[in-house]
Amino acid sequence: MRVELIHIIKRFGPLQAVDDVSLTIGEGDFFTLLGPSGCGKTTLLRTIAGFYVPDSGEIRFGDRVVNDIPAHRRETGMVFQNYALFPHLSVFDNIAYGLKARKVPRKEIAERIGRIIRSVQLEGLEHRSPSQLSGGQQQRVALARALVISPQILLMDEPLSNLDAKLRVSMREKIRRIQKELGITTIYVTHDQEEAMAVSDWIAILNRGHLEQVGTPFEIYYRPESRFAAEFMGSSNIIEMDVAGYDEAQSQIVAETAGQRFFLRGERPSGARVVLSVRPEWLRIVAAPAEGEKNLLSGRILSSTFLGSMIRYQVTGPGEKPVAIEVHDPDEGKIRGDGETLWYQLPADRPLVIGK
Ligand SMILES: Nc1ncnc2c1ncn2[C@@H]1O[C@H](COP(=O)(O)OP(=O)(O)O)[C@@H](O)[C@H]1O
Ligand SMILES: [Mg+2]
Repeated sequence: MRVELIHIIKRFGPLQAVDDVSLTIGEGDFFTLLGPSGCGKTTLLRTIAGFYVPDSGEIRFGDRVVNDIPAHRRETGMVFQNYALFPHLSVFDNIAYGLKARKVPRKEIAERIGRIIRSVQLEGLEHRSPSQLSGGQQQRVALARALVISPQILLMDEPLSNLDAKLRVSMREKIRRIQKELGITTIYVTHDQEEAMAVSDWIAILNRGHLEQVGTPFEIYYRPESRFAAEFMGSSNIIEMDVAGYDEAQSQIVAETAGQRFFLRGERPSGARVVLSVRPEWLRIVAAPAEGEKNLLSGRILSSTFLGSMIRYQVTGPGEKPVAIEVHDPDEGKIRGDGETLWYQLPADRPLVIGK
């Protein structure tokens, strides 16, 4: 089912936890709310679920306005961060809870639970209590409990944050597989950008309650619209330059920093400065500045870290901040030492200038 949020505001006293959020989440989409702790993800998700009433704005499921419909009648399934399993009930009874509350016949309950237990791979654990399960198994009970009622919309609040790193990766793949099988509209909350990229069709970046950017993982990584989005989604070098002119024919901004000229793809800038976002793996190290080579910078190596598949250099940048450069598949003989000067080139073919 499609979900539409129209100018949603939610306050706690003077604090505006959700600040005028408008979004459309398409039928069957895996949509992620991504942002740092305290940015309003849980508040927004709970408002969609019906646990909070927005101070203003409208929430629609399909064509229906649900503002006045209580949580238990919104046909959403929710997976909470701490799972919120009933400790005194077995796995079976935890999953059965919502079906019993809906007065589903006993025989049908057994059938539906059998099916969902296979789908989340909990066979044989039906009669255990939650305390006899691992974190990953508890997480799957919570997922089964949310899905067994055949909700129209699945809501998940950092469902993997209590698991260790390896399990997180395998669980996120399971969640994505089940979501695709069921084709269920899913709104997923995480603060982990890699997790968000790995599972989502769409990502909305939240910053202090407001939407910073909405896009596919690819769009946000390659075309961040703000510093915040660029730095939150992966790592990025933010470099500022002075505008020295604009070449209409080439659609190129002529900019200056560290006494050098740079030629950047982009529209005519409105201000006297431009802000660039450059991913560390987009920078190419060059041996020495050759004649005619454009967009070169140099810096002194502050540190180099060998990470197996890549080496990550920190070098002094044209501004105050160091610049990170990642070289993939580094050759041991070519790894450079601290203090050396390194020349590197900005990519010519990518748009680097961001809005703000
Ligand atoms: N029940 C509440 N009462 C008062 N303030 C709250 C309440 N819940 C959350 N907040 C505040 O609202 C902001 C957003 O919180 P939250 O939605 O939990 O963020 P996130 O899930 O992104 O970490 C935070 O500043 C938090 O302290
Ligand atoms: Mg939260």
